[in-house]
Parts: sequence; structure tokens; C-alpha cells
Amino acid sequence: MKVFARIFLGLFVLDSALAAPTLESINYDSETYDATLEDLDNFYNYENLRIDHSEIEIVTMMPSGNRELPSPPPLPQEPEEEESTAKLIDGSSPHGPDFISVLGPQTNEDFPTCLLCTCMSTTVYCDDHELDAVPPLPKNTAYFYSRFNRIKKINKNDFAHLSDLKRIDLTSNLISEIDEDAFRELPQLRELVLRDNRIRQLPELPSTLTFIDISNNRLGRKGIKQEAFKDMYDLHHLYITDNNLDHIPLPLPANLRALHLQNNNILEMHEDTFCNVKNLTYVRKALEDIRLDGNPINLSKTPQAYMCLPRLPIGSLV
Ligand SMILES: *[C@@H]1O[C@H](CO)[C@@H](O)[C@H](O)[C@H]1NC(C)=O
Ligand SMILES: *[C@@H]1O[C@H](CO)[C@@H](O)[C@H](O)[C@H]1NC(C)=O
Repeated sequence: MKVFARIFLGLFVLDSALAAPTLESINYDSETYDATLEDLDNFYNYENLRIDHSEIEIVTMMPSGNRELPSPPPLPQEPEEEESTAKLIDGSSPHGPDFISVLGPQTNEDFPTCLLCTCMSTTVYCDDHELDAVPPLPKNTAYFYSRFNRIKKINKNDFAHLSDLKRIDLTSNLISEIDEDAFRELPQLRELVLRDNRIRQLPELPSTLTFIDISNNRLGRKGIKQEAFKDMYDLHHLYITDNNLDHIPLPLPANLRALHLQNNNILEMHEDTFCNVKNLTYVRKALEDIRLDGNPINLSKTPQAYMCLPRLPIGSLV
């Protein structure tokens, strides 16, 4: 019966997603991070979802040609009746292969991902499902959330050939291992959130990233490759708080706005970590938010290091 309910809810939510404003516009700054989670909780609270008829009419009036999704199958006339949903489960659906494609690929348990998780447009939500691996994702997935699960490893095939993938959020899993090429060939990947895991070593990351959060992991001296962020011209936010780093990863990309490294083990830095000591006209005006508090570093030892910055880093100046 739970499964029947899921099918119905899946369709219901899918339909409402087409009517509701997309979640893509959610601001993902650290300050609003919790708010994002709350928003999602509200979304999962199906009882709060009310679609009035005018919204539904707008959807049905839209030409189906300019949509990314295959147009959803018609809802059963009386979805409360068990009889009509039961037909969908045993595969004898009168709606044909279109209906199956909406459910996404089969998981290991022979269960489509979009029944196990919730798929809305190009977003796949798998939060809090006791998953121990990344489920197979539909080819057009752009936003993937799988927070609060038990995933231990990211394999090289988990995200293979997902050329539309823009955001991966695996907050609060048990990830301790990531295959070296797990994030390779993701030409659109912009945001990677791996906070609250057990990661010791970061694999190669795509240079398209704009937002990286690997806070609260186990990255130490060799956890981040040399020059790992050098070519990320669009990287704005780099959050690596609560790890065991003993140095600031260099070089920092030019357009970085926020660098959070609080609660690591950074002891010292070079005078040209942020600035160019040989060229005093160089200004790094984007980098306004540097956090080094909670490190055993004495910022007073390198007074020349902040000359080009719009603001002093936050940390111990004694
Ligand atoms: C010094 O930096 C400025 C601003 O980035 C640049 O225009 C100039 O060419 C640099 N000068 C030298 C000698 O590298
Ligand atoms: C921090 O560095 C400054 C400048 O070198 C020095 O005067 C000060 O005593 C240092 N503070 C600590 C706690 O080591």
C-alpha cells in the first residue's frame, strides 16, 4: 500500500512541479543553507501542497513542444481508487512506455529511481532514504540531492554520462572514498556539496565549478591535490571548514569571493597567498570573505599578505 501511495504522490508532485516555480533559483549561500533545507521539508510535506484548478489549467494550456520533460501521462481519473493505481504497478499500465520513462532507470532492487526518490522536472530528491549507494539517475538529471543517507563510496560510474548535471548535494552521508574519475566529464557541473562526510582525499574536480562545500570531512595535508582550484575561473565559494588542512590551497582562483577555512590546522601562510608582493598594484577585489579563525595561525606575522584585499581575513591577530 505504501508503494501505491508513492506512485500516486510521485505523479502528483511531478505535476505540481510543472505548475509551481522551480527550485532552481534557491540561493545557496551558507547563510541560507538551513533555509534551503526547510524549504525542502515543506516541499516534502505533501499535505501542504495545494494546487488550485487555475494552475492546472495553465499547465495543460502550455504547448508541450517547449518542455524539457516528456509530457506527463494523464492522471488516473479517480486516483484514490486502489484499482487504478494497482494497474500501474504490475506493468500493465494503459499509459504505455511514456509512463515508465517518467519513473527513471531501475535501481539494484529492480525498483525505478523515481519511485524510490522524488523526481520533479530535472531535479531528483533522494534525501533521507537510507540509501547506501548513489541510485542510477535519469539521463537528463540537472540537480541531484541525496542528503542524510548512508552512502559510503562514490563510484566512477555513478555520475557517468550525465551531461546536464549542474548540482550534486551529498551532505551528511558516510562517504570515505571517491573514485578518481567520479566527477570527470560533467561539463555542466557548477555546485558540489559534500559536507558532513568522512572524505580524506578529493578526486579531480571539473573546472566549471562555482560553489564547493567540503566542510566537516577528514581532509589533511594530502587531501587536496596541488593547484586543485587553479583553473576554476568561475569559482566563487570555497568552503573547507572543519577539516585537518595544514595549509591554504594555492593558487586561489581570481574570482573567488568567499574562502572559509575555519577550524583546520593551518599554522602559517606565505605573504603572497592572496596578493602579489612583487606587484603592489595588483588588487584582489572579489575576495571579501576570508575565515581563518579556529586555526593555530598568527595573522600578525604576515602583515604584507593582506595589502591587496578589500577586507582583512577573520582570525587571530594577536
Ligand atoms: C601588476 O598588476 C597589474 C594589475 O593586475 C597589471 O596590470 C600589471 O601588468 C602588473 N605589472 C607587472 C609588472 O606584472
Ligand atoms: C603574533 O605575531 C606577532 C608579530 O610577529 C607577535 O608580536 C606576537 O607575539 C605573535 N603572537 C603570538 C601569540 O605568538
